[in-house]
Amino acid sequence: MSQSPNKWHQETIESQKSKMEKTVPISPLPSDIATLTLPNGKTIQLPVYKGTKGPPMIDITQLQSKTGYFTLDPGFSSTGACISTMTYIDGDKGELLYRGYPIETLAKYSSYIEVCYLFIYGHLPSQKELSLFEETMVSEMMINEKLIEFYKGFATDSHPMAIMVGVVGALSAFMHKDFDVNDPRDREQIAIKLVAKMPTLAAYAYRTALGLPIIYPNKKYSFIENFLYMMFSTPMNDFNVDKVIVKALDTIFMLHADHEQNASTSTVRIAGSSLANPFACIAAGITALWGPYHGGANEAVLNMLKEIGNKENIPKYLQKAKSKDNCFRLMGFGHRVYKNYDPRAKVMQEMCYSVLEKTQRANDILESQLAILLEQAALKDDYFIQRKLYPNVDFYTGIVYEALSIPTSMFTVMFAVQRSIGWICQWMEMMSEKVQRISRPRQLYVGEDQREYIPIQDRKEEEKSRVCKLPMHSSLFGLVKV
Ligand code: CMC
Repeated sequence: MSQSPNKWHQETIESQKSKMEKTVPISPLPSDIATLTLPNGKTIQLPVYKGTKGPPMIDITQLQSKTGYFTLDPGFSSTGACISTMTYIDGDKGELLYRGYPIETLAKYSSYIEVCYLFIYGHLPSQKELSLFEETMVSEMMINEKLIEFYKGFATDSHPMAIMVGVVGALSAFMHKDFDVNDPRDREQIAIKLVAKMPTLAAYAYRTALGLPIIYPNKKYSFIENFLYMMFSTPMNDFNVDKVIVKALDTIFMLHADHEQNASTSTVRIAGSSLANPFACIAAGITALWGPYHGGANEAVLNMLKEIGNKENIPKYLQKAKSKDNCFRLMGFGHRVYKNYDPRAKVMQEMCYSVLEKTQRANDILESQLAILLEQAALKDDYFIQRKLYPNVDFYTGIVYEALSIPTSMFTVMFAVQRSIGWICQWMEMMSEKVQRISRPRQLYVGEDQREYIPIQDRKEEEKSRVCKLPMHSSLFGLVKV
């Protein structure tokens, strides 16, 4: 990057250099050999790797070149796509570690800024390092004024996640010329700039949707306080920082900071593997996060609780979630990796009580009571027991957000802001590898075999045209039932 290094960089550039190098993953040596016998009788020996923790992995990178076979694993249920030093999950135990530290310990004693530092530099900061780092982060929270113009172009009823996909992608138009993705010092600055600007971009999405004036970040507030300040203050009133609310929000930020190779993180890595602009890669991650099976679940949980309405309806909705006749699922339940209680959900549940005690809003209390009853009923139900479906982090997140006056449509945006550190550090990790290959999975093709091309004048007319006829000028963007 061409800008002159700020205070943080002047003081730490040399001392951090050697520490950052420790965050580069190094392939372990094979710990074992697996022998695979193929249908043609041929056998092949494949190296087996054992990480610091977790199940062993069979290395199949040579499988195709040595045998002609590929593996098929839609949804990547059995596939490891990278070697990482960032986050470890033991799904059976319900354990989550960030660079070796249990999430419960970090949630209790650390802060989001400390966790960001931990992910970028690989170790926890000293008090001095932390203060300097937070100062740098806060000073990077402002965004280019031209970017604010983008918000005016969105339809007034736009979902804030749609706005986030657009404006974070647009960061790549502002930051593209003066950095080299292969330079670790540039990657570090990219990470700081992205994570610092995400709360600002999110707060502006919220405020412009409501027609409220933009509030600029202020150095007198901490990183998390600045987010609340930009979301909820007005130019007319003094802003009061509530320490309980700041701590609650800080903890939620920590809980969502990273979660190894989920759909959005894998999307960021795949996009980054083509050496695309990192801010555009993050926009791709936001897109993957949006869906209700991933980050969109927090919004879906709250909508579901509102729809259930009261405890008498719980059996009906549990039945609906178990039935395969519809696509309704119990939102905030189940996880690809956790086959036990999600450790983040436990922290979230406790925090829910402390926030509700503070805010004392009757509706939120009723919603939390309904959530507890729903959880108890599901955990006693054979369907959920057999499939090991437990509450995940999103089950209680929405209730806490609502108590913090964050509107439902902003819930997944909150997740995106919090996960930005995980995404960009996973990208940094990938870019630091000595050998980088573009992500390019294969497929089992079951379409037509090669067929003869028929010139258009000789083709048969279909009885009914398959092309739907849209009324002229019906709507430029809406869909019509045809
Ligand atoms: N409600 C009802 N049934 C479920 C649920 C649920 N929430 N989750 C899974 N199942 C059933 C599923 O129908 C299947 O049943 P069967 O074996 O009879 O076909 C079985 O459990 C296994 O499900 P799966 O779809 O193979 O599991 P998966 O690992 O592919 O999906 C999941 C994981 C999170 C997408 C899924 O559990 C789900 O849709 N949960 C609700 C959405 C949700 O809360 N998402 C947030 C995840 S945590 C935050 C994040 O990191 O994104």
